[in-house]
Parts: sequence; structure tokens; C-alpha cells
Amino acid sequence: MLIRHRLDIAPSEITPRGVWQRRRELVRSAVAAGLLGAAGVSPAQNPAAPKLPGKPSPLSTMEPPTPYNLVTTYCNFYEFGTEKEDPARHAPKRLKTRPWRVVVDGEVKQPRTFDIDDLLKLAPMEERVYRLRCVEAWSAVVPWVGYPLAELIRRVEPTGSAKYVEFTTLADPQQMPGLRSRVLDWPYVEGLRLDEAMHPLTLLAFGLYGEVLPAQNGAPLRLVVPWKYGFKSAKSLVRIRFTEKQPLNSWQKSAPHEYGFYSNVNPNVDHPRGSQATERRLGEDGLFSRRRPTLIFNGYGDQVAALYAGMDLKRFY
Ligand code: MTE
Repeated sequence: MLIRHRLDIAPSEITPRGVWQRRRELVRSAVAAGLLGAAGVSPAQNPAAPKLPGKPSPLSTMEPPTPYNLVTTYCNFYEFGTEKEDPARHAPKRLKTRPWRVVVDGEVKQPRTFDIDDLLKLAPMEERVYRLRCVEAWSAVVPWVGYPLAELIRRVEPTGSAKYVEFTTLADPQQMPGLRSRVLDWPYVEGLRLDEAMHPLTLLAFGLYGEVLPAQNGAPLRLVVPWKYGFKSAKSLVRIRFTEKQPLNSWQKSAPHEYGFYSNVNPNVDHPRGSQATERRLGEDGLFSRRRPTLIFNGYGDQVAALYAGMDLKRFY
């Protein structure tokens, strides 16, 4: 993506590991004790939006969610333009989310085409508050509503040859004015290794803030992979294909020296156009606002580091 920020490092901002581990334990016990209540931490923000509640998840971060108006207006969805406000300006008026089908095929025993309304009922909805870190060096905390992608994957039964999953998103020039620009080779494609796609943190999201996903955030369904840079979280999915070979994602295709396949959040590997060591949290702008240190795997290392045991993360960036 078009990176505009250069960064400086503020190591003093590092939250000691023990502190965030304790916070996470607190959330887990609060959820277990029912203290967070069935409605979760995030009331709906747009009275007109259809609601989509989810059961609070113990995998949520305790950090305060980024204000709803920022999450829904500062967006990357290049199919609707490359400026941050373009998706919120164009997508709600143009993107039609019904009828909507998602083809699930490739190396699976049970290939299927799902109607979005059947996908919504496939598994219980959870509210997962996740940090999302963009390669442009900003981050947000978002209460997503969805269920683990693994719920869907299990139902189509990947074959022994399935090693990767390729995600393709809608590319309709009638609805998406951004497709006129050659900034990417459309449609937008992303990929994960099968074990990454099956990981319990990998979410198929249908909502945020207790509401059905706003168009600009990837309605009617998107991926959320919290330990990877934001671009892996593909929006408005239309196809999920299981493959033997590693898929080529859109960003790798457009700039192979800048974007790799894995794209795990890693403060130790710079992007060619800027350091990834720190980040700006949306909503914390201002002359004196401090940058936060970026954490390896976006702070989800204790859940996901084992996926990459023995791999050289500088080579497989
Ligand atoms: N999905 C599609 N189809 N098109 C895009 O341009 N941008 C990606 C990702 N998914 C993008 C996409 C990038 S760069 C980021 S940072 C996240 O969406 C942003 O999600 P948000 O706008 O909901 O914060």
C-alpha cells in the first residue's frame, strides 16, 4: 500500500509482558464469571444499522476499542479509492451485499457455494476485540463479531493436498469505482497457510461494534488475522480456495520487494519505505501523542509463535 509515514522509536512505551498477560487473565476470568455480561463491551454505535451481537470472547484484548467513527471512516479498501475517507464515502451507497455467495472449493472433499445468510448461521457469533496493525504504521482496536474461520474449513473437509488457502474478494466495476485505477491487479487476493487459517484467532467477521459490518469495513464478510499486517484481512470475500501451492497475494504481485507472503507483524523487519518498530494508535493523534512500540506478532506471540518455529522471520517476511 501507499505508505506515507516515517517512524521514530519510543522504547519506553513498551508494556511489560507480565502486565498484559495479567490483563488477559483478568478478561478470561471476568468472562468465565459472567462479569462482562451477554452484551459484551461494545454497544451499537449507529442506531440505523442492523444489530449483530456476539458472545464476549476470552481471546479479546482488554485495551479500549478505537472510537467507532474512526474505525468506520479511516479505512483501506482500494476498490473504493485510495484515500482513507473514500471507502466510507462510496461503499455504503454502492456495495450491494444481497444476494451474496461465497464459493469454497479447490482441495476439499465437500466443495460448496454458501449463501451469506447460511454462513451467518453456520456457527455461534462471538465478539472478539482485536488489535489490528497496518503496515502504514497505524493501529486500531476493534470489537469484531464473527466466528473462527476453522468452523467453515472443517465443514468442507480439506484433502491431504490442501496446504494453503487463497481468499478472493469482490471485483465489480459497476459497484467499485476504484477498479478503474491500476494500483492493484484486481481482484484483491490474499493467502494463508492452512494451519494459519485454522488457527483459533483467525476470524471470519460479519460485524463490528455489535452491528452488521459497514460496507467500508468489508461487508458482508471479511477475514481478520490479528497477528498479521492489516492487508492480510481481506474484505468482501467471494471465494475461498484450498491449494497445494502458495498463493500469490495482490501486494506481493504489485511490489514483490516490499511485501512477502507471511506479513506477520514484526518490529524487527523494516518495510523498505519505513521502520515497523513503532505505531500510532488511531484516535491518539496530536502534537504530544506518543507512538507505541510495535510488538512481535502484534502481541499475539504466545498464541501464534509456534506456527513459525525454526523459520527465519527475516527471510519469510
Ligand atoms: N480488502 C480489500 N478487498 N481491499 C483492500 O484494499 N485493504 C487491506 C485490508 N483488506 C483492503 C482489504 C488493508 S491495507 C487494511 S489495513 C485493512 O483491510 C483495513 O481494514 P479497515 O479499513 O476495516 O481498518
